[in-house]
Amino acid sequence: NQEFAWRSAIMHCIADPTDVGPDNAYEYYEDGLLVVENGRIKALGNASDLLFSLNADTPIEHHPNALITPGFIDTHIHFPQADMIASYGEQLLDWLNNYTFPEEQKFADADYANDVAERFLKELLRNGTTTALVFGTVHKTSVEAFFTQAQRFDLRMICGKVMMDRHAPDYLTDTPDSSYSDSKALIEKWHQNGRLHYAVTPRFAPTSSSEQLHKAGQLLQEYEELYLHTHLSENQKECEWVHDLFPESKHYLDVYDHHQLLSERSVFAHGIHLCDLEYERLHETGSAIAFCPTSNLFLGSGLFNLAKAEQHKVNVGVGTDVGGGTSFSMFATLSEAYKVTQLRGENLNPIKSFYMATLGGAKALKLQDKVGNLAVGSEADFIIIDKQATPLLTTRLQRSSTIQDTLFALMVLGDDRAIQATYAAGRCVHRRQ
Ligand code: GUN
Ligand code: FE
Repeated sequence: NQEFAWRSAIMHCIADPTDVGPDNAYEYYEDGLLVVENGRIKALGNASDLLFSLNADTPIEHHPNALITPGFIDTHIHFPQADMIASYGEQLLDWLNNYTFPEEQKFADADYANDVAERFLKELLRNGTTTALVFGTVHKTSVEAFFTQAQRFDLRMICGKVMMDRHAPDYLTDTPDSSYSDSKALIEKWHQNGRLHYAVTPRFAPTSSSEQLHKAGQLLQEYEELYLHTHLSENQKECEWVHDLFPESKHYLDVYDHHQLLSERSVFAHGIHLCDLEYERLHETGSAIAFCPTSNLFLGSGLFNLAKAEQHKVNVGVGTDVGGGTSFSMFATLSEAYKVTQLRGENLNPIKSFYMATLGGAKALKLQDKVGNLAVGSEADFIIIDKQATPLLTTRLQRSSTIQDTLFALMVLGDDRAIQATYAAGRCVHRRQ
């Protein structure tokens, strides 16, 4: 039961900036102290107030040129697509056929899946991401590999096997029955096993029959606190295809709604081309959207309408969507999020960006009592950001007189080099060389 302490500038969000305003949404300690015991936050405050209360033998790490924040939360990413990142020249449907499906075929092999899962998780940790909602492939082996590796680091992670029974190559399709029983076996083994959770994961409406979507809904009924993770309204041609495949549905979201797939643990990636009825239904059901700016720009999918989602009080998290997305870094992702809002004639407040990548992401995943900030009692998932990681960061941040400006410059200029160390449940899981 040894306690450990970190002394540094410390910042975390305590509320939604959209509700309380950016200035009331966070706490910042210029010379702060973070105290951890048994993998949880024991105390947080000004160093001058807390130092006297530490046990005499408590080790203190002092980082005068750093900023400690909660670990980042990535609400949409594909682990099997790690090695096909930066695939040239296509939009969504051709990109899937030409690059994604052939890559995902390899995950039938357990050794291959294990190797990628391990490298994927290390890459997330190098970028300061400690929790993610993750797609596997159609193969059970892929999710086995992912959870096995995540458990080694004791990470809070959510993953699921893709359900896909049509409009994909034979080597990558399952059936309604096999997807149901394979998912069930994975749920029994991994859901709520330590810090792991399972997400029922139909790829998207075009690749699941109505019968399969019905099975997905059945799984959600049978177990507590399962997630539903899928794609929604990302690309114009995809939307037209869904309209043709499900002519009786009012809109794209209605396909999922009709199969009882909307709940407060449902996360829909993208949600770019939505009508008002869809935003309303997302709000009513407490579902969340994963905003994936680097992917939306890279695949030419469109500009997410954050203002609309806010007006309708829809939960929004941030996703890298690697391999459609182009970076594992939440800094890079938030930089592109800022540019997307600029193109829409708005500008994303840096506290709001940071919120979406931490506590807001946790809220989207209904994990806000566990991770997402550094409140006493929460799990000690945090990162040490080096404010002098590069010459340019050093000089730019010397000019920052506010934490808002520091965060903004980190988002625009920062990358994995700025992540000095990453901690999960109080344990160091990455340290920069
Ligand atoms: N829609 C269906 N499958 C995928 C995928 O793998 N990536 C993205 N970005 N969109 C999808
Ligand atoms: Fe995706």
